[in-house]
Amino acid sequence: MPLMYSQRLRNGSPLLLGAIAAVLWANTAQAQSSSEDNAGSSVGSGIQTSVFGHLPDGRQVDVYQLTNANGIELRVTNYGGIILSLKTPDMDGKFDDIALGFDSLEAYLSDEYRQANPYFGAIIGRYGNRIAGGQFSLDGETYSLATNDGSNHLHGGDQGFDKVLWQAEPFESDAGNGLVLRYTSEDGEEGYPGKLEVEVTYTLTDNDELMVDYRAVTDKATPINLTQHSYFNLKGEGSDTILDHQLMINAPEFTPVNDTLIPTGEIRPVEGTPFDFTQATPIGERIEQENEQLAFGGGYDHNFVLARDNAASDELVLAAKVWEPQSGRLVEITTTEPAIQFYSGNFLNGDLTGKQGQAYEHRSGFALETQHYPDSPNQEAFPSTILVPGETYRSRTVYRFSAQQDLGS
Ligand code: BGC
Repeated sequence: MPLMYSQRLRNGSPLLLGAIAAVLWANTAQAQSSSEDNAGSSVGSGIQTSVFGHLPDGRQVDVYQLTNANGIELRVTNYGGIILSLKTPDMDGKFDDIALGFDSLEAYLSDEYRQANPYFGAIIGRYGNRIAGGQFSLDGETYSLATNDGSNHLHGGDQGFDKVLWQAEPFESDAGNGLVLRYTSEDGEEGYPGKLEVEVTYTLTDNDELMVDYRAVTDKATPINLTQHSYFNLKGEGSDTILDHQLMINAPEFTPVNDTLIPTGEIRPVEGTPFDFTQATPIGERIEQENEQLAFGGGYDHNFVLARDNAASDELVLAAKVWEPQSGRLVEITTTEPAIQFYSGNFLNGDLTGKQGQAYEHRSGFALETQHYPDSPNQEAFPSTILVPGETYRSRTVYRFSAQQDLGS
């Protein structure tokens, strides 16, 4: 609706404005009646449900607004499990929305957005990042996937988990207010083997954490690598670049790529390279250095191998911290995953307009995607991403939001 809304506004006649008011009123009424329906369920004041819109086939899409005891507010839709907004305080207690995205379902469904395909805020699956040539072999069979990124397969294909409607169930628990999203990916969907039942749970805790839990089971062996693709700008979405944000990645190594961003197989120490973020460093400090890897990515777009030492595979370890000096906002990411993709928003080019009407310019948001390594199904030396029947895929990532005057040690 807002897309039509802005088009109509440009026409600007009073009659049309009256029509808009009526439409907006109807929308609000619809949203209210939907929250009233939901208020009847076990959901309390920390969770509000409203209608986001309808898919072209008529299915209703909802928005869930979760609030914690300190006023942090997260809005999620069951379309793609997309995080629409996240409001957190700066060091003066002023709340801003730090997640890039849109206010309307139409914006996510638009051709313009689908062509740019930045995957703002979405759940990514079955496989986060790239699979070379859209092909892999498993148990003697070769599988062909969509090649939706040049000659490679990216983020699950043409209709990955970011573009499907999930079943949603809000809940309140001792851990916080949350939302469980469930999706069944049928055998053969996007070329992948096996019927995969997936569950992703967002929990907003009173300790100012967003906890994301992933769980899946399959009836045939299949690759799986789920992640969350939020872009943050800790100054507030729609602000200028993220180049002054200071980033620490707890990774002594990274996986260099070829010119189509497929890992070469090498695991290279970061020491002495622009990829050394073991000490907090402004993202922009070395991004323009002459460096083949930076040239391939158009900036940072690489998989960092985390220092997990002897941590068990279900143990959370620190993956990254990002601190923004003006607002003092800090996000700390811990995960059970072995790696994290750091993407400095290199493909944003100002073509998409965000929630405040500001264009999302080059590098105006960053993504830190916890994951297994890209192209693992074709790289035997990488940790396996194959889930087999009888086993359960489990993964957890926690983002903790705070604000402080300096980064400290
Ligand atoms: C990838 C980028 C890609 C971006 C948006 C990131 O996870 O690493 O190469 O452009 O997602 O699709």
